[in-house]
Amino acid sequence: MRIDVVTIFPEYLHALRLSLVGKAVEGGVLALGVHDLRDWTTDRHHTVDDTPLGGGAGMVMKPDVWGRALEDVLALGVSHCGPEGRTVLAIPTPSGERLDQRRVEDLAGADHLVIACGRYEGIDSRVAEHYARRVEVLEYSIGDYVLNGGEAAALVLVEAVARLLPGVVGNPESLAEESHGAAGLLEYPVYTRPPLWRGLAVPDVLLSGHHARIARWRRDRALERTSARRPDMVAALTASQLERGDREVLTRLGWAATPAGPRPLAVRHATGDDVAHLAELAAETFPLACPDHLPAEDVAAFVRANLSPARFREYLADAGRYLVLVAELDGELAGYTLSVLPRAADEPPYAADVEAVVTVRPVAELSKIYVREAVHGSGISQALMDATLAALAARTVEGQPLVGVWLGTNARNRRAHTFYARTGWELVGTRHFTVGGRVEDDAVFLRRLVASPS
Ligand code: ADE
Repeated sequence: MRIDVVTIFPEYLHALRLSLVGKAVEGGVLALGVHDLRDWTTDRHHTVDDTPLGGGAGMVMKPDVWGRALEDVLALGVSHCGPEGRTVLAIPTPSGERLDQRRVEDLAGADHLVIACGRYEGIDSRVAEHYARRVEVLEYSIGDYVLNGGEAAALVLVEAVARLLPGVVGNPESLAEESHGAAGLLEYPVYTRPPLWRGLAVPDVLLSGHHARIARWRRDRALERTSARRPDMVAALTASQLERGDREVLTRLGWAATPAGPRPLAVRHATGDDVAHLAELAAETFPLACPDHLPAEDVAAFVRANLSPARFREYLADAGRYLVLVAELDGELAGYTLSVLPRAADEPPYAADVEAVVTVRPVAELSKIYVREAVHGSGISQALMDATLAALAARTVEGQPLVGVWLGTNARNRRAHTFYARTGWELVGTRHFTVGGRVEDDAVFLRRLVASPS
C-alpha cells in the first residue's frame, strides 16, 4: 500500500517515522510520502488560502493549488500501484462521516490512500466534488470536536490503517479481541504484574489459570463496560454475536437478549396508565401456561374474572395487598408479575392444601409471572423475578419482614419447573387449582427471602 499526505505542516507528520508505522515503512510494507502543499503554489508568498465567497469568518484553501498538488500525488500512486489500483482520497474534516473500525478495515484494502489536510475553514468544496468523479473520495471526521486542521486526523488514519496491513502488528491475535473488533464490544480491562499495586489487587480469577473462567470473566467485563460507556454498541449487537452466558449479565445490566439482539429492558411498578396494556398482556400470556386439554372457554372465563382491566385497577388501588411489576422492552410491556401480600403477619395462604405445605409466615404469593411468548428466553422472566423478590424483601407486614414467597404452577408445565428450580425455588408440595370449572394439579414452590437491610 502507498499513503501520501499533503499538508502545509509536513513536520507534523514526522511522528509517523516512529513505532510500528515507522517500522512498516522501513520494512517496505508501507510506502509513505509526506508533501508540502506550498510546493504547488505559484506566487511569491506561497499563498494557499483566500477569503470565503459569500462572506463569513476565516479563510478557505484554494482549489487551484490543491488541484495541482493532487494531480502530481495521484500520479505517484499510478507509478507505484499501476493504473488499476484502488485509490481513495481522504479529506479530514469535522463535517465528514465519523471514522470507525469498519471504515478503517475497508481503507486498509485500498492500494493508494491520499490524505488532503485542510487548515482554516477547510478546502474549497469543488476539490472533493471534482475528484469524486475520478477516485473514491471520503470526507471523514475523527470525532465530534473541532481541531485546527486535518493533520492530527491524518496521523490517526495512517496509524489505524497501517496496523491492519499484514506484518505490521507482530501478533495478529491481539487485533482479534480488541475494542471495535468483530465481537462488537469494547475490550475488557487488562492487568500485568505485580498482582497487588497501591492496595489494588488484580482480580483473582486472572491468576487462577482456569481458561474458561477467565474467558467468561473477560466477556462479562466487556459487556459491562460496553453497556456503561457505549450502550449504542450493545443495541447494535445481533443475536448471533451473543454467547451462552451473556444473557444473565445483560439482564443484570438492563438488557433483554431478544432474538433481534439486546434491547433495553426496564422493570418498574405498574401504574394506572398501564391497565389497558396489562390486561391485554395478561389475556395473551395466561393461556400459554395452561395445559392443552383445558377448554378455551374455561381459560377465557378465568381471564375475564381475574385479569380484566377492572381487576388490574383493583390490584393497583390496593397497594397493601397487591404488588404489580411490569417489564418494559423498548418502551412496550413484555411481561408482568402480580404478587399477593398477607394483611396480617400470621395470615396463612388462602387455600388449605397450600397452607399444609407452606408454613413460613409472613408469606406472600407470587400469583403471576408472565412474559410475551415472542421474547421467551430473553432473560425477561429473570429480571422480573429478581425485581419482584427484591420488592417483596423490602416489604413488612405488621412490622415484620416477609419471610418467604410461594407460587403454584401447573404440574405439567416443565418449562416453568425448570426455571423455578434453576432460580432458587424449592418444590414443597402440590395443590389443586380451579380454572373455569376444572380442577388442575399445581406444583407449589417456596422461596425464602433475605430481608434487605433497612
Ligand atoms: N479537522 C478539524 N477537526 C476535525 C475532526 N474532528 N476530524 C477530522 N478532521 C478535522
